[in-house]
Amino acid sequence: MKILVTRQIPNKGPDLLKSNGYDVFVNLEDRVIKKAELIGYLERDRYDAVLCLLTDKIDSDIFDAAKESGVKIFANFAVGTDNIDIKAAERVGIIVTNTPGVLADTVAEHAFALMLSLAHRIPESDRFTRAGKFKGWEPMLLLGSDVSKKALGIVGLGRIGSRVAYHARRGFDMPVIYHDIRRSEEFEKEYGAEYRQNVDDIFRGADFVSIHVPLLVSTRHLVDARRLRLMKKTAYLVNTSRGPVVDEQALVEVLRERVIRGAALDVFENEPALAPGLAELENVILTPHVASATEDTRQAMSELAARNIIEALEGRIPPNLVKH
Ligand code: GLV
Repeated sequence: MKILVTRQIPNKGPDLLKSNGYDVFVNLEDRVIKKAELIGYLERDRYDAVLCLLTDKIDSDIFDAAKESGVKIFANFAVGTDNIDIKAAERVGIIVTNTPGVLADTVAEHAFALMLSLAHRIPESDRFTRAGKFKGWEPMLLLGSDVSKKALGIVGLGRIGSRVAYHARRGFDMPVIYHDIRRSEEFEKEYGAEYRQNVDDIFRGADFVSIHVPLLVSTRHLVDARRLRLMKKTAYLVNTSRGPVVDEQALVEVLRERVIRGAALDVFENEPALAPGLAELENVILTPHVASATEDTRQAMSELAARNIIEALEGRIPPNLVKH
């Protein structure tokens, strides 16, 4: 059986597939594969599975070509599956899987790193020091904010949001408020967390708002100008979920007007492009969609994507099936 991997990924998954007797073809162009190229591969050869990335937009034309080729499964090397038209997959009877769980701690750490970096003004301090502006200790130099005991607002209490709450509570003694489509009394008991039915109350009440929802029709621009303007003047926004969850242009405006103190983004509305004006702001931290990018985690994602393929091709239900 033959597997198409749309771009080079850490070796564990491809190695696992090979050691299970699969023929693995990796597209070695080190850039996002074009739709026509992917369809071309599928038309030229017979494939049983595709291991794809979040930068591959998998639409119904690709699913039609994949079906013809013999593909049974698309295993996404990501937890988010907004790049895949799941309905189209179901129409042609192709399975879609993702890689949840293995990246939750790493992404939660990144969200926390961003919170600490914002509050302690780490990138600004680094720029200042490198620029030779440090002339000696000053009582008023680069004053920041504390993180400990400040209120954390979590929007989206999945695996990642829960781990952010864990670090906040156990490490920094932060009171936690959260919003999710499902309330979890167990979580509330464990972390002394409080549920907010209305997402606006998270924006009103938190000192740090951390976003952990998937990108859906219902979460596009969940963080819009109106909600940003509900936030405390001293509050910070952190987004490690998907760019379009935040209205990036509205964020630029509130940061410019100092409606909130700062924001950190790992994801962008039109990746890799940034909203005009965003990169010029001092009160924002930008990272290039690397929240899950540790060696161990990317290897674990690679392995999990491969496991999903093996399970599906051996006729079992893969562990991380995504349903519409
Ligand atoms: C990364 O953004 C992922 O969805 O895994």
